[in-house]
Amino acid sequence: MKKTFLITALLLITLLALAACTPAAPPTEGSPAEEMSEGTSEATAEQPAATAEATTEATAEAAAKEVEVFSWWTGGGEAAGLEAMIKVFDAEYPDVTFVNAAVAGGAGTNARAVLATRLQAGDPPDSWQAHAGQEIIGTYVAAGQVEPLNDLYAEEGWLDVMPETLIPLISADGNIYSVPVNIHRANVMWYNPALLTELNVEVPTTWDEMFAACDVIEAAGKICLSMGTQWTAMHLMEVVLLGELGADGYHGLWTGDTAWDSPEVTAALETYAKALEHTNSDAPNMDWQPAAQLVATGDAAFNIMGDWADGYFSGDPAGDNLGLVPGEGYGWAPPPGTDGVFLFLSDSFVLPVGAPHPDEALDYLKVAGSKAGQEAFNPVKGSICARTDCDSSLFNAYLQTALADWATDRVEGSLTHGVVANDTWKTEIDTALGLFLADRDVAAFQEALTTAAASYGPGSN
Ligand code: GAL
Repeated sequence: MKKTFLITALLLITLLALAACTPAAPPTEGSPAEEMSEGTSEATAEQPAATAEATTEATAEAAAKEVEVFSWWTGGGEAAGLEAMIKVFDAEYPDVTFVNAAVAGGAGTNARAVLATRLQAGDPPDSWQAHAGQEIIGTYVAAGQVEPLNDLYAEEGWLDVMPETLIPLISADGNIYSVPVNIHRANVMWYNPALLTELNVEVPTTWDEMFAACDVIEAAGKICLSMGTQWTAMHLMEVVLLGELGADGYHGLWTGDTAWDSPEVTAALETYAKALEHTNSDAPNMDWQPAAQLVATGDAAFNIMGDWADGYFSGDPAGDNLGLVPGEGYGWAPPPGTDGVFLFLSDSFVLPVGAPHPDEALDYLKVAGSKAGQEAFNPVKGSICARTDCDSSLFNAYLQTALADWATDRVEGSLTHGVVANDTWKTEIDTALGLFLADRDVAAFQEALTTAAASYGPGSN
């Protein structure tokens, strides 16, 4: 038994190491970078030894005209947003090859493991996707892996156009460490309007109403609440905690003001356990897109997911999206108990310490923070701009509601998407959640969550 474990572990390590060694995607055929490097290597072969040094420098310069950007935006609703941003980049920097190093898997579960291996091996990309909040400050900044961007902010005038509330979440000791591209909302309940009408079910506003609705929906042979793999279960958990504890109670989980072993948390976890009973049995086998698709096809009534699902529901079918009309093919509402609260997260990009192409990384960051870049990216991605000066007419009917709510709602931070807990604490929670999904033992789960908060939460040091 032990031996099998050891062999599996060794295999895993080898695979990870191999993945880390995989070279970045080569420049596309005929691209400026490829032409340049072809030309350079031929010239090098014919150079006399005396000029070898100068040639090496020239080669390095030619090779430097690329930027490797690491993210997890490969699928429906996500890849298209990134492509739109790349178009803006290509137009502004035609001599720089954009190397899209995205690794598939919602919420970055795979990508972040690959990134960690690369960082450990001293092989950072030129920029990577990181969530505003503790994922940046308590993880990458704490480990000294990212550079401050104060000069870039000053040059680009970004302090005047980025939301004041966001800057502290990407800053430490007076330094700003990332460039936010968007604001996503995590607490959205997507639903199939035709199915609800057919079954005469109202959109629930409390979990009790939801469970009553589930009885009707399941009696009709449909899935009540579609869900996917483990990170989507964590996503559902944070939304239930927010709805059941209220904004203050939820907030306190991350500041130490709400006791994880309190009866209120027990009750919220029991509600969560009950919600899980109404999800699809094949949830562990699917990422968020297939889970959301169950709502689009009418196989499921509800799906609780961030508003990247809006990009997927409404986006161009040519790009693996569903091409639905907002409000017709899909509807949305705040999940039970969360009306008036905007559970937020923000994707941002960093400048790594030791970026192989720091100048080009800065070029990319300039585009990511620009009005043109954000106006191209966000309407397709299903998010609103981080910048406050985007043209609001570019956004669809769902995103109009996000714009309005972002301006007026109380804002709280997402756990699953990096705002409120650093990686160490979140990993502990995730491990406890994995056990809970298998055994559904609320008491043991609560105990593990309480221990995790005591070990890694505020005041743990
Ligand atoms: C989040 C990320 C979003 C979206 C989602 C699903 O963590 O912030 O941009 O990509 O994962 O993959």
